[in-house]
Amino acid sequence: MRCVKIISFALILGFVVPIRGFAQSEMEVIQRGAYVARAADCTGCHTNAGEKPFAGDFILASPLGNIIATNITPSKQYGIGNWNEEQFAKAIRQGISPTRYLYPAMPYTAYAELSDADVHALYLYFMKVVKPVDNKPERITSLDFPFNQRWLMMGWNMIFARKQPWEKAPPEQDNIKRGEYLVKVLEHCSTCHTPRNILMGEKESQFLGGGFFAGWYVPNITSDPISGIGRWSNDELVSYLRSGTAHWKSQAAGSMAESIENSLRHLPDQDLQAIAAYLKTVPPIRTHGQIRPAFSFTGAKPVNMALLDYAIDRNPNAMTDKTTTDGQALYVAACATCHQLDGQGTKDQFYPSLTANSATGGMFYNNTVMVILNGIQRKTNDGIVFMPGFGNEMNDIQIANLANYIFERFGNDSLKVTAEQVKLLRLGGERPIIAKIVLPIGGVILLTVVGIIYIKRKRRRQRYRHLSSKR
Ligand code: HEC
Ligand code: HEC
Ligand code: HEC
Repeated sequence: MRCVKIISFALILGFVVPIRGFAQSEMEVIQRGAYVARAADCTGCHTNAGEKPFAGDFILASPLGNIIATNITPSKQYGIGNWNEEQFAKAIRQGISPTRYLYPAMPYTAYAELSDADVHALYLYFMKVVKPVDNKPERITSLDFPFNQRWLMMGWNMIFARKQPWEKAPPEQDNIKRGEYLVKVLEHCSTCHTPRNILMGEKESQFLGGGFFAGWYVPNITSDPISGIGRWSNDELVSYLRSGTAHWKSQAAGSMAESIENSLRHLPDQDLQAIAAYLKTVPPIRTHGQIRPAFSFTGAKPVNMALLDYAIDRNPNAMTDKTTTDGQALYVAACATCHQLDGQGTKDQFYPSLTANSATGGMFYNNTVMVILNGIQRKTNDGIVFMPGFGNEMNDIQIANLANYIFERFGNDSLKVTAEQVKLLRLGGERPIIAKIVLPIGGVILLTVVGIIYIKRKRRRQRYRHLSSKR
């Protein structure tokens, strides 16, 4: 029992361990499968914190409603234990399970490019190493009409899921190609970092150009020197992907912190170097209206002690007063112990500077507000990174005033956020147009597309039958 645990753990970390009962060649394939599962972050969505690996029941909050990631252990009753390899491949590459169309919350649009060998390796890993979990699921996905009509995905897939598998995963020596395979296929970076169109498909022409998801701004990570990562050194990128921090540039919260915790920090250094090298080759995209990089806002305006005294004079409890709406008083009370009065953080940057910071110096207020609301909790290879969230302690007006104080004092002083905007971010951000109004139109377009393709195919088949009956 313990032995199996150790072996599974070693496999997850990618160590070569001999496993009793497996031939050498099969063992290598399974090892590759363990690596692919880690790099593709299957754990991140299919495992609840503290629960059994891949047992599912994990809630993904999507703008269309909650989607539940299911049990993908080889349980015959509740998992995928009865699936053959072809069915498994079809589910993860095309989003079609033996019984239903999957929602693209499962990133099959990226996994479509997985090589045959990697799918085979994944399949063996899941069937032979992952332990079956025979628990009845506690939740099932039930979206509102018409999103609960899964067959509508047929039309969506025809438009947006058209990628073909790579012939084989690039070898280690081919640094940039390897980075490309990691970014596009395994780590599916574009599912978050590429903006989406009205039908929620990725805008391919703006690959990695930055977008909005669940209240967060997911940054532009193209090679653009102003809006993207063009002026980050490769080592800074590797540091960010490994630990979530690139000093004087950026820290990872939200879903980026999860990707790092569950997947990226476990990859070998070589892989992260490959990702950095590839990102530098991604065609640059300039974010509209941006004229300087987020991290170039380095100057903290000096703290006006007179003003601070005034706030305290005016209200002797300002430092502890939970009702104050004064941005500076709130900053001093809630943030300065870690980020310091001058906003420069601690010397070692364990508590980071709020100047030269992509959250405060960028083009969008989102991430500063989201971090104040939710805080940060991220497991790294060196320990836990923690910042408390203040969503329950502060109201929308307080958070707006605090954020505006930070923008004005430490970051991009043309950024402004209102209490109404904070309220919206609290609820998970602006819903995509499709969820609001375009739905009926979108549905009709999808139906029409499906209809036209169906009729065309039928005609072709009839013509073919006609021809062959003449023969
Ligand atoms: C970003 C989150 C996410 C990641 C990463 C992810 N999945 Fe999923 N997966 C889901 C969700 C959500 C569903 C359920 C979708 C639905 O209900 O339509 C799902 C469904 C599935 C299914 C279909 C199960 C069924 O019961 O029909 C399989 C198989 C699967 N995932 C395998 C994988 C594998 C293997 C990986 C890693 C290579 C992976 N998933 C990575 C979110 C994810
Ligand atoms: C699940 C969604 C998701 C995935 C997948 C994802 N990211 Fe992110 N990424 C984010 C979010 C959200 C942020 C903003 C985090 C913050 O500011 O706290 C971010 C921030 C970043 C940043 C910092 C940029 C800046 O200007 O501050 C880099 C670099 C980055 N991601 C690279 C990647 C790479 C490379 C991949 C794939 C290997 C990837 N991300 C996959 C959501 C994601
Ligand atoms: C207990 C210490 C602590 C307190 C108090 C604290 N922070 Fe933080 N903050 C952190 C840590 C730790 C990080 C992340 C460092 C890392 O990722 O390496 C962080 C990161 C940030 C970031 C960057 C986030 C990103 O996604 O890029 C912002 C902005 C921020 N804090 C603002 C605030 C504000 C505003 C307050 C007051 C409401 C505050 N912090 C209070 C410790 C703290």
